[in-house]
Amino acid sequence: MCGIVGYIGKQKAAPVILEGLKRLEYRGYDSAGVATLVDGRFELAKKAGRVEGLILSTPAQRLPGTTGIGHTRWATHGGVTDANAHPHLSSDGRMALIHNGVIENYASLKKFLVGKGYTFKSETDTEVLCNLIAYHYQKEPATSEGSRFMESVRKSLRHVDGTYGIAVMCTDCPAEIIAARKGSPLILGVGDGEYMLASDVSAIISRTQNVVYLKDGEMAHLTAGNFAITTLGAEDVSPVFDTVTWRVEDAELNGYAHFMEKEIFEQPDALENSMRGRFAEDGSTAQFGGLNLTAVDFRQIDRVHLLACGSAWHSCLVAEYLIERFARVPVDVDYASEFRYRNTPLGRNTLFFTISQSGETIDTLAALREAKRKGYKVLAVSNVVGSTIAREADGGVYQHVGPEIGVASTKAFTSQLLLGAMLALYIGRMRDMSFSDGSAYVQALKGVPNLVRQTLLLAPQLKAVARRYAHFHDFLFLGRLSLFPIALEGALKLKEISYIHAEGYPAAEMKHGPIALISEQCPSVFLVPSGEMFHKVVSSMQEIKARKGPVIAIAAEGCDLPAGLADEVVRIPECHEAVLPIIATIPVQLLSYYIAAELGRDVDKPRNLAKSVTVE
Ligand code: F6R
Repeated sequence: MCGIVGYIGKQKAAPVILEGLKRLEYRGYDSAGVATLVDGRFELAKKAGRVEGLILSTPAQRLPGTTGIGHTRWATHGGVTDANAHPHLSSDGRMALIHNGVIENYASLKKFLVGKGYTFKSETDTEVLCNLIAYHYQKEPATSEGSRFMESVRKSLRHVDGTYGIAVMCTDCPAEIIAARKGSPLILGVGDGEYMLASDVSAIISRTQNVVYLKDGEMAHLTAGNFAITTLGAEDVSPVFDTVTWRVEDAELNGYAHFMEKEIFEQPDALENSMRGRFAEDGSTAQFGGLNLTAVDFRQIDRVHLLACGSAWHSCLVAEYLIERFARVPVDVDYASEFRYRNTPLGRNTLFFTISQSGETIDTLAALREAKRKGYKVLAVSNVVGSTIAREADGGVYQHVGPEIGVASTKAFTSQLLLGAMLALYIGRMRDMSFSDGSAYVQALKGVPNLVRQTLLLAPQLKAVARRYAHFHDFLFLGRLSLFPIALEGALKLKEISYIHAEGYPAAEMKHGPIALISEQCPSVFLVPSGEMFHKVVSSMQEIKARKGPVIAIAAEGCDLPAGLADEVVRIPECHEAVLPIIATIPVQLLSYYIAAELGRDVDKPRNLAKSVTVE
């Protein structure tokens, strides 16, 4: 949430920062701004709206200088206005600051600073921190300007409650940026004679793959030819360099209209990458390199607890079904945001997993920390290498689906489903699942990329369905067992990108309330299972049809639906039970995408949302 970019080097800073902001815009798109430092003064351009708007209204020569910082905002404190856009300047004009996170005690700090004569132009907590640094700077004894600047940032951060990823410049220090993080991601890119700061690697991969992930409580001091990392307590930290494997092309549209569309169609390859090298040689189970637990450890587990938010939470519900079904281990699924405050009694041999595409979702991170505090092992499923959750977990599994830029999760979600299915297999084979059942399961998983490829051929049909249904204002998505979470996911996808009201329900629950919504004006999307549940779901469809509700059925090829029951029938390939949720997801993704596109919505940047929710 909110994108941060900083640059110090030999090039003009503003174009590099603006390019980075464009790549980061999915983290927040309420406003954007850039400040550069030239001859001891700041040049500042900031504006409510998109980065493109800022670029169009700011001629390049307005922002000279080779040191600068920039920001895209997802509003927390204060409305979406030019004044609330970052960077913020201190009222004495000495400091410029960008900030990702929330300063919880900003009101008392502001009162203090107003008493000291500082003035404020915005309603943000960020401007408070900026003035606080200026206040400490003017109080700090004049040693060298650089260390005075560093000390003033350090002292200010000691007074701050809340979370931050910040970058600050000072007019007295013409080629310096100080950055710090607590609870909000910050990455240092080390290029050829230049350094970059970013909240996300996609902002810097066009310039360098060489990065240092800052940890909570660390600060970076960048100068034109050097950098140093210290703790908030002023202890030196030796930087650990990592190499980013994502390529620039992965973060580009490559001819697609939207990132969401691209990411939907990338799923066959993405899923192939998620499972590559993760099947045992005997072909009867899964294997994972980074779990850091032995088979004996796994045997001792008598409960699994899954924590996540949003779509990732839906993937946990599917994993719950599969782990209980195939591994016969009881599973609890919690919203990460609820778990940390619920103080739920926990068993002794519980293994925790967090699932988070970004690896930065603050609620999931806090839940992970809470479980670890209680002495549990926590493993993480995450897509972003080096993300905070991945680093703080005791072990885990990377998704390897490449950057997901569309705000609505697609390829990361299906990869979470796949990895959940693989975990069910892995734990199941350590218990009662037989060699032959394990081998059949592995064969089914290996077939996923091709089945997804085949299912994507439904795109023209779903585009046509979308055209016919885009004008409706309410939808129900209904499914049972492992398809119930896919109903939730379908409803979430539709509402977040098209702004159409939609609800996901277990199909049989529909008659306990939601059936009151049914009319000719409220279509129901049914995810129809084969097997024992088929007839039960067909009965639910009949109840809807009897009340004149339009029905869109997503059903496997062999399902013999009574004639005339569904207004639209979308046929997905027959598949293994563990694979079905993945395959059934594809049509709901396509349907939502085409409805949103038909309505002319800003699919990749839906209103009020941002990728990676790093505030509580
Ligand atoms: C919905 C969506 C969100 C995320 C949620 C968790 O399309 O993308 O609901 O799934 O914010 O994000 P991660 O997985 O990054 O923790």
